[in-house]
Amino acid sequence: MAEQAFTPRVFSGIQPSGGLTLGNYLGALKRFVEMQEAGTYETVFCLVDLHAITVWQDPDKLTHATRELAAFFLACGIDPERSILFNQSQVPGHAQLAWLFNCVARMGWMGRMTQWKDKAGKNSENASLGLFAYPALMAADILLYHATHVPVGEDQKQHLELTRDIAAKFNHDYGVEFFPITEPVIEGPATRVMSLRDGTRKMSKSDPSDMSRINMSDDADTIAQKFRKARTDPEPLPETYADLKDRPEARNLIDIYAGLADTTADAVMAEHAGAGWGTFKPKLAELAVEKLSPISAEMARIMADEAEIDRVLARGADRACAIADPILTRTMDVMGLVRGS
Ligand code: AMP
Ligand code: TRP
Repeated sequence: MAEQAFTPRVFSGIQPSGGLTLGNYLGALKRFVEMQEAGTYETVFCLVDLHAITVWQDPDKLTHATRELAAFFLACGIDPERSILFNQSQVPGHAQLAWLFNCVARMGWMGRMTQWKDKAGKNSENASLGLFAYPALMAADILLYHATHVPVGEDQKQHLELTRDIAAKFNHDYGVEFFPITEPVIEGPATRVMSLRDGTRKMSKSDPSDMSRINMSDDADTIAQKFRKARTDPEPLPETYADLKDRPEARNLIDIYAGLADTTADAVMAEHAGAGWGTFKPKLAELAVEKLSPISAEMARIMADEAEIDRVLARGADRACAIADPILTRTMDVMGLVRGS
């Protein structure tokens, strides 16, 4: 098959497993909106409910978290007309292509995934088969749309390499140039927002300490209190970002500020050099409240009409299928799977 030119298309997904944080906003949503606004790509965003159920999810909570995540996308500025927004389980092609990729990917590749090792831990015998196969489903999400660019946080880099490996092996085994070799997009000052209690660990919804993270649902007082109590060192801010090399907690707060203010870490340093934490932290809290409060208010407004959210997702799923179906059909043809006509 002749090499084909791929439409510049962004795909990314977030799991509706509850508890959205500042990390999800700065590391994912804010960048998704920028890519939508840039107008250079078609943008496809997915609430990956099939990924969420690789670990136990209470059904009612999953339903709620899916709608809440949709509200988060919309409140941050994803426009369901300009972007495609839907939940994964409404587009059957994800599970279908994932099966085909289960037969392309190798056990050894999956076993090397650090997320698998972290999540399954010592208890891997008892982990779901879905958790092991998770990266093949993720590759299917991306390649079902022939996506060329995938914005994610640093933690997903290894899964994207595996996606490239699956695409390359499929193309090689079947002698085609059918799937694109997708580019990860990991950029911006806040691709890895760290815990407010420990600058060496990622800010995460699963951290036992609520003080370690800013939740999208936190009110202004809580946000201010969490930044006030954020762990730092006693030194004031130096002249340059490079001078923060051995100060992970300090660096994290600067990165967060830069992400929220839409500027660079160097610019934040230039503005605040010499300041103590007693001065910087309240400014950071004020900025965070200014940026996050309108989003949480808008989420609450959107959540008041669940039927409308469901309509948006159903329409997104229809538009997603329109791209996905021909790609899945072509994949099956390439593999020699017979279809009636
Ligand atoms: P998760 O909530 O872990 O499924 O992550 C959803 C998206 O948010 C992915 O693109 C992650 O890489 C990103 N993300 C989650 N936590 C952080 C964080 N602390 N810093 C930067 N990005 C994050
Ligand atoms: N594994 C990603 C995460 O936990 C979520 C995800 C699933 C995803 N499918 C994707 C991200 C496709 C980007 C592209 O964050």
